[in-house]
Amino acid sequence: MADKSLQDKEKKLAAEKAVEYIENGMTVGLGTGSTVYFAIRKLGEKVKQGLKIKAVSSSNVSTDLARSSGIEPVSIDDAGEIDINIDGADEADRDFNGIKGGGGALLFEKIVALNSGRNIWIVDSGKLVKTLGKFPLPVEVIPFGHKGVLKILEEYNPVIRKRGDSYYKTDSGNLIFDLNMNRINDPLALDMELKQITGIVETGLFINIADTIIIGKENSTEVLFKK
Ligand code: 5RP
Repeated sequence: MADKSLQDKEKKLAAEKAVEYIENGMTVGLGTGSTVYFAIRKLGEKVKQGLKIKAVSSSNVSTDLARSSGIEPVSIDDAGEIDINIDGADEADRDFNGIKGGGGALLFEKIVALNSGRNIWIVDSGKLVKTLGKFPLPVEVIPFGHKGVLKILEEYNPVIRKRGDSYYKTDSGNLIFDLNMNRINDPLALDMELKQITGIVETGLFINIADTIIIGKENSTEVLFKK
């Protein structure tokens, strides 16, 4: 999507719609990214107005944002079951599969998602795709021996993510390899193949995890529920 202000408007619409599902007393998962930003801000407003929630964050960035919005996250290990997790995605298809990790938080995001009773993705309209893979697939890799993993992944055109002149490091101190495939015909098979490679901690393929996708559209939202 070329128009950044329209994209931001759609992100905000989707994010604020998701917050409508949060009820008093719930434990809420906070994803990461520029779309989740709007959800955390809105949640913060509601907390200031009296909403009582517990929140579990998926990244240092979201923890800082939550705190500055008036929400003090609790540790995932103290939280118990998370009722609803709200997260963004880089690409989502109508089978409720997606690519995440553009913001580098895929490992903690997946752990939060798998501890959640319900997973809502919030996306702008440009992120809904027929086939996954145009967005480079992020894979989290242990630094020790990463050159060997790079070689194994050669056919997928891996690029080690950088921040400035240094390698980007995740909140766990790992590297991100972005795999450039253009098209992923069988996301589940690829995920299984990648997870068998020693040194790969997690992939940005989120399969069968989201149950609701809220799409921001110019002036409205569309909500898809998994059947
Ligand atoms: C971070 C993520 C984000 O949810 C994903 O990259 C979407 O981000 P944004 O809302 O900024 O487009 O997976 O690891």
